[in-house]
Parts: sequence; C-alpha cells; structure tokens
Amino acid sequence: MQKIIGPFIQLLDMSGLPLKGAIKSDQLKIIQHAAVVVEEGIIVATGKFTDLAHQFPKAVLEEMEGDYVLLPGFVDCHTHLCWDGSRANDYAARLDGKTYLEIAEAGGGIWSTVTHTRQSTATELIKKTVQRANHHLKNGVTTIEVKSGYGLSVEEEIKILQAIKAADQTTKADLIPTCLAAHMKPKDFNGSNIEYLEMLVNELLPRIKDEKLTNRIDIFIERSAFSKEEALYYLQSAKLLGFDITVHGDQFSVGGSEVAVQVNALSVDHLEASGEKEIQMVAASDTIAVALPGASIGLGMAFTPARKILDKGGALAIGSDWNPGSAPMGDLLTQACILGAYEKLSIAETLAGLTTRAAAALKLNSIGSIEKCKLADFQAYPVDDYRAIFYHQGSIKPSKVWKRGVEV
Ligand code: NIG
Ligand code: FE
Repeated sequence: MQKIIGPFIQLLDMSGLPLKGAIKSDQLKIIQHAAVVVEEGIIVATGKFTDLAHQFPKAVLEEMEGDYVLLPGFVDCHTHLCWDGSRANDYAARLDGKTYLEIAEAGGGIWSTVTHTRQSTATELIKKTVQRANHHLKNGVTTIEVKSGYGLSVEEEIKILQAIKAADQTTKADLIPTCLAAHMKPKDFNGSNIEYLEMLVNELLPRIKDEKLTNRIDIFIERSAFSKEEALYYLQSAKLLGFDITVHGDQFSVGGSEVAVQVNALSVDHLEASGEKEIQMVAASDTIAVALPGASIGLGMAFTPARKILDKGGALAIGSDWNPGSAPMGDLLTQACILGAYEKLSIAETLAGLTTRAAAALKLNSIGSIEKCKLADFQAYPVDDYRAIFYHQGSIKPSKVWKRGVEV
C-alpha cells in the first residue's frame, strides 16, 4: 500500500550535503509545504504536497493537521544501553570532587556496572535495553548503536550481545550491536592486558562471528584500560577476522585517535583530550570523529573540539554515549544542542552529525536522510520553522515518529 504523509510546513531531507567539513545552514535543502510518499517502509518520493498528491492519486493520505517540520530520524551512533545497576553514587562522588579515574580505581566505575550486569538475567537486560531504546525512539532516535562491554568474559559478553539482539527484535528502533569486550581488563582475569585481549581474539571473536552477534569491534584506549600497542594488536586481529572497527579514543589522554586512524576505523569517539596534532590527523583521515557531549556534561569536562575538527575538514557525528557512568542523561537532541551552542556549530552541522554523518559512522547508507529508496524513518516537530527545534535546545520533542513508514 502506498501512502502519502503530509503536508509538512518544512521538510529537511538532508540530501546533497558533504560527508566531511564545515556546512553552512544555507546549504540545507528545505522543501516547503512538503510530503513524503512511502511504500513497504521505503521512501518512494518527496516533494511538494500538491505535486505528490497529483502524481500518486491512489496513495492513501495520512494527513498532518497543524504545522509540523519533518526531519530524518536521528541516528545515535554510540551508546551503552545494555546495563543493570545505578551509578548515582559515582555521580555524587564526582560532584564531591573525585575524578572519573579516581572513582574507577576505588572500585566504582565500569567495574561496578559489570558486577551488576553480570548478576542480571538475560530477561531483565532485554527489558531494560528495550525500555531505553523506546525512550530514544519516542524522542526521534530511530537507529541506535548499542555496545556490550559490561560483561567482560566470554559468556557474559555473549549474554549481553544476545540480549541486544533480542531487544532489537522487540523494540521498533533498529539496534546496531558492537562488541566492547575490550572496555577494561576485568578485575577477576588472571593475566596481563595482552593476555586478556588474546583470549578475546581466540575465544570470543570467533563465537561472535559464528553466532552472527555483531560485525563491529570497539576498544577503550586509555591509561585505565588499554595502551596503544595493546589496542593495535587487538584491532588488527579483529580486522583480519573481518570486523569493522570503532574506538573510544582521546577521552582523558591522547593516543587512541592515532590507533583509530592507523587501522582505518569507521569512527573514533570522544576526542575531548585531542590537541592540534590529533585533530589534524583525524580530520585528514576517513575515520569519522564522534563527539559525545553527554559524557562531557556527565563528567563536567571539556567538549570534543568539534568546531576545529570541522574547520580542518573532518567528518563529525554526534552520539549520546548513553551509559550509567559518564553519560546517564540519554537525551541526544538536548546534548547536541548544547554542544552546538558551545562549539558554534551551524544547525546544518549539528543535524548532519545526528543523521547523515552518524549513519556513515555506522556504515549504513539506507538511513540518515529523507530520500527515495531510503528507510521511511522520520520525525515531525510541532514548530513552523526548523530553527525553533535547536533554539529550544531539546525541550521540544517530536509529536510523531515513524519507523519504516509506521508511526510509533
Ligand atoms: O564512553 N569511556 C569508556 N566508556 C564509557 C563509560 C562507561 C562507564 O563509565 O560505564 C564512555 O564514556
Ligand atoms: Fe562510550
């Protein structure tokens, strides 16, 4: 069945924009009094409402009453949604002046979430992941990357990746799993960092392949986690097995971005600590820089130097990093608006970071823009000018969200 959805006072299709570099807001294509024609969850046409009504006379009308602006569904290319337990105590300790790394060393941090997540049943983890994904979906996020990384043993990582897969079958959002078993060396592993990574390469990665749990591998390169050399061994081994790579890099200290570029990672995420050298290197590469303002806000730390990355010609996506430790808020649009205000990002750059460029970070070309042949994933805001969405810094939420052409 074909249907025509509209009219929308403005439709921003995000077509024709460059993958890399700065974008001025006048480069955004805005269709006024627009509509979308959808069939079987796929976009068939976009254009003026009156033109499409003529061209598709048999299409069923899903009429919009009132003024709405239509945007592509947002793509959150970096989350850790699958966890159990709370880290409110870590947060309070940070407000009392302790640092993220000090709290981790004192037994809080990632390890405390690992302990709670290991105690959780698969059913409970699926339920929590679906709840969080549905919350995102209601706020217009139609595709969500979800990392493991709170299991940190072969069986526990498999449990989490299976839970993400099951959650994907329950929520209407699309979940894209990533294995982050290299989040840190678990405290109960009897051996060195490199021995832990060797164990993952020999035992976990082949199982992930066999069970088709994900084709994406991530690692946290940091003093408290893995060194550049250790990461290089792990990522090169993963690449040989055919995995795509993404990296948590330059969050507190530099080094991770260099490894990411060296292994031609799809993205390097965080970069809050990156200096001129790292910015230049990432911007000149094919690796997409992912800013995670939710982590900067959650930790009370600097933002990713997004403006500099764009001005040097880099590709910049924006993710929520939704996790119980550094980024508990989980409101992608609010975070992106705040990053935009501090870093002076044009609305076009922020929007590209939430749509086309985030889709590219996940190597997905079927999403991110409202164009013929792409998935009919979009969201309508109750405003008459798209700029109002950013002006309100995330407090205006979409009135309607469609996933594969169906309102959710
Ligand atoms: O992206 N930095 C590493 N991992 C997460 C935090 C995970 C946690 O604190 O539980 C991040 O910020
Ligand atoms: Fe993260």
